[in-house]
Amino acid sequence: MPSQVVVVGSINVDQVIRVNRHPRPGETLIGRSLVLLPGGKGANQAVAAARLGAAVALVGAVGSDGLAGDATALLAGAGVDLSAVQQVPGPTGLALITVADDGENTIVVVPGANAALDAPAVGRSADVIAAAAVLVLQGEIAAAGIAAAVQLAAGRVVLNLAPVIELDPAVILRADPLVVNEHEAALVLSALRPGVEPSNADRELVARLRECGIPSVVLTRGALGAICADDGGIEEVPAPAVPAVDTSGAGDAFVGALSARLAAGATLPEAVRLAVRVGAFAVQSEGTQASYPTLDDQLPEVAG
Ligand code: RIB
Ligand code: NA
Repeated sequence: MPSQVVVVGSINVDQVIRVNRHPRPGETLIGRSLVLLPGGKGANQAVAAARLGAAVALVGAVGSDGLAGDATALLAGAGVDLSAVQQVPGPTGLALITVADDGENTIVVVPGANAALDAPAVGRSADVIAAAAVLVLQGEIAAAGIAAAVQLAAGRVVLNLAPVIELDPAVILRADPLVVNEHEAALVLSALRPGVEPSNADRELVARLRECGIPSVVLTRGALGAICADDGGIEEVPAPAVPAVDTSGAGDAFVGALSARLAAGATLPEAVRLAVRVGAFAVQSEGTQASYPTLDDQLPEVAG
């Protein structure tokens, strides 16, 4: 059976340091703990979708440095099809993450093997990509690899442009939805409409992105929830109020859940309503993938 959700994206090992607060440039701080965890936005999104019951395949690359097993352990455990994960010479992708007491994080990624996911490497998985109901992409692989995947897609394309990298506007216009936070939304808008002052009002940002011709847009707003817009209209979706322990990878939990629901036939607002609850579940415990819910978990409810 072909996978409903195919993620073409990054696989990292995360080195996570807990700190009281984030260091300022030039400052040295003592960290409390260091752990090595599987990460990468692509891998995280694949795990999130699979734990919610979707049939998921990941197209990606790991290195030859012996960290591939650490990077893919939870993917395999979640039942993600890893037959399109290639091994290339050199290091596996690495992320240096600091998480402060307020749950906020900083992340620096060294792509390593993820940079090898270019057009020819993606083309090797053409059949898997073409058969996907939903193709999921982020900004942590080569831009040419993203463009190649979009060209092969016959189903719906979920483009989470995190981080924002330079892409051909035609690629961005295939996004249905484009999923971005406020900062990313402003960057995408100024790339598509150079010279236009990006608005800082969230609804207006979403409306402006839609005016560029993007079929649908989801703006993620952290604890505030999300705004989604498609031909059916624009909707603000509040998030459940929960104590944040670790926000890293919460956006990936959101995108994975959104993609799983869209593949199952949900409308965009329906999928976003589940995704905000899955994101809120994930911020309540440490790590990225390990904090994602399964179908057996009780998700937090939106008050009111
Ligand atoms: O979104 C969180 C992820 O970003 C981490 O797992 C890290 O690997 C980086 O890709
Ligand atoms: Na978490």
